[in-house]
Amino acid sequence: MRVFDLRSDTVTKPTKAMRMAMANAEVGDDVYREDPTMGELEARAAALTGKESALFVPSGCMGNLIALFVQAGRGKEVLTASASHIIGHEIGSLAAIAGTLPITIDVPRGILSADDLAGRVKAGSYDMATTAVISVENTIGGYCYPIENLAGIKAFAEDHDLRVHMDGARIFNAQVATGIPVKEWASYADSITFCLSKGLGAPIGSLLCGSKAFIDEALTVRKMLGGGMRQTGILAAAGLYALDHHVERLSDDHHHAQMIAQSLKKSGWAEVDMEGVQTNIIFFTVPSMETKAVVDVLKEHGILANTEANVVRLVTNLDISYDDTLAICAIIEGLTMEAT
Ligand SMILES: Cc1ncc(COP(=O)(O)O)c(C=O)c1O
Repeated sequence: MRVFDLRSDTVTKPTKAMRMAMANAEVGDDVYREDPTMGELEARAAALTGKESALFVPSGCMGNLIALFVQAGRGKEVLTASASHIIGHEIGSLAAIAGTLPITIDVPRGILSADDLAGRVKAGSYDMATTAVISVENTIGGYCYPIENLAGIKAFAEDHDLRVHMDGARIFNAQVATGIPVKEWASYADSITFCLSKGLGAPIGSLLCGSKAFIDEALTVRKMLGGGMRQTGILAAAGLYALDHHVERLSDDHHHAQMIAQSLKKSGWAEVDMEGVQTNIIFFTVPSMETKAVVDVLKEHGILANTEANVVRLVTNLDISYDDTLAICAIIEGLTMEAT
């Protein structure tokens, strides 16, 4: 039986052409900052995000951690939505390693506005931490941040002398879905991370982007965390290949997500967050069934899904073609779901 892996867009395997680019990459020692292909990727990332400088990191988690370590750090506070990845899925590293206190805010879809931040900034005193950073995630759960919210957050941050960090793990999905270039999204943040290893289909890596002074400090923290790597040109080549060949095609993933969402809606057994399907992520529930049981039934029929906070999640990706999507839709429409 063919298995369709929709657990995440991280499950994709590098294509043959990407592997060729990796095999042919020129390399050097990147801890000595001598890897020419990595230099090219970092310069490209800086240009794409409109920042002075960029640094390759092994993962999105490390990129977010370094951003908060440098811009907040011990005894400082970060304001963020409680639904954000840095809160739910990074093992509390911002507290455990950076020493930063997260102040979480419950907002629909994890989308903050300046109004949500009002009254929460602390100037610090003998018994109070100082607020240092606002962290936003775009896309969040596949949903694109309304740009006016980001403009409001940026203005709020400037008024209160705070930095804004954007976890842009899937910022290219936001670009493709909205037509707003990554550079414009990034202009609302002092620092931004984006991942090569999600929809873009590279095996490893994220880019942390910001001012030159910030990236100089980030380089030291990356080394402190054990993230200094040597002949990284093979990874950079995969990243450059992904940026050249896998950005525009994200619109295919978005189209496939719409098709699957429509089939779920048609199925009669699923309640789908249709409005939330803006990019490549679909959330749904099956009333009267535990999410784990739903995932088990889907698996029996060859569809791998994930669960998150009482919802089932499907993520379209590079390894799922249009024909695969038709097959997935047929499976979904042919299924009945019942609590056992
Ligand atoms: C929004 C978001 N940020 C950060 C990360 C972390 O990326 P990584 O798995 O490369 O550490 C993920 C991973 O899924 C993510 O979805």
